[in-house]
Amino acid sequence: MKISFANMTQPTSGAAVVFALEGSKLTDSAAALDKATKGALSRAIKASRFKGKRAQTLHVLGPAGSKLGRILLIGLGKPKDIGEKTWQRAGGYAYAGLAKSGLGTVSVMIDGIDGTKIKPADAAANLAFGAGLRSYRFDKYRTTEKDDAKPSIKSLRVLSRATAAARRAYGPLSKIADGVAMTRDLVSEPPNILYPATLAKQAKELTKLGVKVQVLGEAQMERLGMGALLGVGQGSRRESQMVVMQWNGAPRGSKDKPIAFVGKGVTFDTGGISLKPGAGMEDMKWDMGGSGVVIGLMKALAGRKAKVNVVGVVGLVENMPDGNAQRPGDIVTSMSGQTIEILNTDAEGRLVLADALHYTVDKFDPKFVVDLATLTGAIIIALGTEHAGMFSNNDQLCERLSKAGKEVDEKVWRFPLNDAYDKLINSPAADMQNIGGRGAGSITAAQFLQRFVGKTPWAHLDIAGVTWSKADAPTVPKGGTAFGVRLLDRLVANHYEKR
Ligand code: BES
Ligand code: MN
Ligand code: ZN
Repeated sequence: MKISFANMTQPTSGAAVVFALEGSKLTDSAAALDKATKGALSRAIKASRFKGKRAQTLHVLGPAGSKLGRILLIGLGKPKDIGEKTWQRAGGYAYAGLAKSGLGTVSVMIDGIDGTKIKPADAAANLAFGAGLRSYRFDKYRTTEKDDAKPSIKSLRVLSRATAAARRAYGPLSKIADGVAMTRDLVSEPPNILYPATLAKQAKELTKLGVKVQVLGEAQMERLGMGALLGVGQGSRRESQMVVMQWNGAPRGSKDKPIAFVGKGVTFDTGGISLKPGAGMEDMKWDMGGSGVVIGLMKALAGRKAKVNVVGVVGLVENMPDGNAQRPGDIVTSMSGQTIEILNTDAEGRLVLADALHYTVDKFDPKFVVDLATLTGAIIIALGTEHAGMFSNNDQLCERLSKAGKEVDEKVWRFPLNDAYDKLINSPAADMQNIGGRGAGSITAAQFLQRFVGKTPWAHLDIAGVTWSKADAPTVPKGGTAFGVRLLDRLVANHYEKR
């Protein structure tokens, strides 16, 4: 879908999208369109339950004798509650409401609204951002889908009296959307196509944006002593990889430490010798979700030329049962020197992250590190699909993540960490074991990670419940969500960019 910004006019073809406030009060251009259509909108409101409440929509046919096919009226709720998220969601409703209308062009009319804080230019930009996010589709492997089952919208025009400013505000948002789309693509790819080497190759593409990308193979990781990560991949025919991405956007000469993001990239998780049950195992293609977020985030930050020095590290492996696979009972030595008794080969994400986290803090001494991982089924039991789990050794980092999450609608919820939980992963045979008992599975997993970050401020986001969704949300179609890209982009924008 092509997105463009233009000056306010009355659309004469395709579909028009206009807005109403709570109490069915029409915005200026909605009122003008109502007048031009001899009251089509006000009559439709009277014949419906539309009240202009947030998320309400009303479809109206275009007037007789006009090429304007449809008018979609969207409720924005109370002026005081309207913000960037309202407009992003409205963009999502506009796209979803008309995607399969058969019409090719949608013109959205955006006016200033009394009593709201957000400027019309930002409203227009955020509407475009939301519509673009909602229009994502992973259909590259569908070869027989009929044309009239596909979305018809080819062009979204956002009309306002602040065209130039809207276009400017949309610039960075479109780069964030590019990052989100890349993450969704990666998460959606099937595991026969996307495996460690091909995922690394996708990350290499970021070189075009000025990101420095280094790929470590098994020989290099062996030299570094990454026995924890390598043990997970040893049952796979696919070579394990680690990708190190660096975006140096801070002004030259700034001596600041970089910030760092680390992602779990298990391109397929069978469980290994501790094999998972067959039903639903196909979902484990998105066990590389954390790495997908880190790669998409790097794309977004580099794309919008964020003024920050940032490192992204992803550990990429395939967890397979095989004659050479790791066994329950094996003891491996991590790069940190700490030894790990493997009690369950399905608790593999923490093993990959152990070496990726240690490598990151050891090599880059970052200001902080945030890791993302589809780490535990237990986090889905605890939080469902509403929040990601957050675990951290640093209150300030948590507060900043919580705030950023609320701002972009990717929410996190903090869990406790302490010595009592930490003890649960002590092993009689090695420095630690890779699982705790039955209780607090997400917390013991996080305690395990904490043993590899030293004193570096660190937060772990368990995104197992939020990486893939089974239902459409306003700006997130069902499928890969890219949860984390917008959250961490906002964290960076709020606190870590040089102005
Ligand atoms: N990738 C899974 C976690 C997962 C489960 C993500 C369901 C998304 C949906 C992880 O590697 C895993 O298998 N974890 C085990 C840990 C257990 C063996 C301690 C789990 O959660 O069952
Ligand atoms: Mn597993
Ligand atoms: Zn896994």
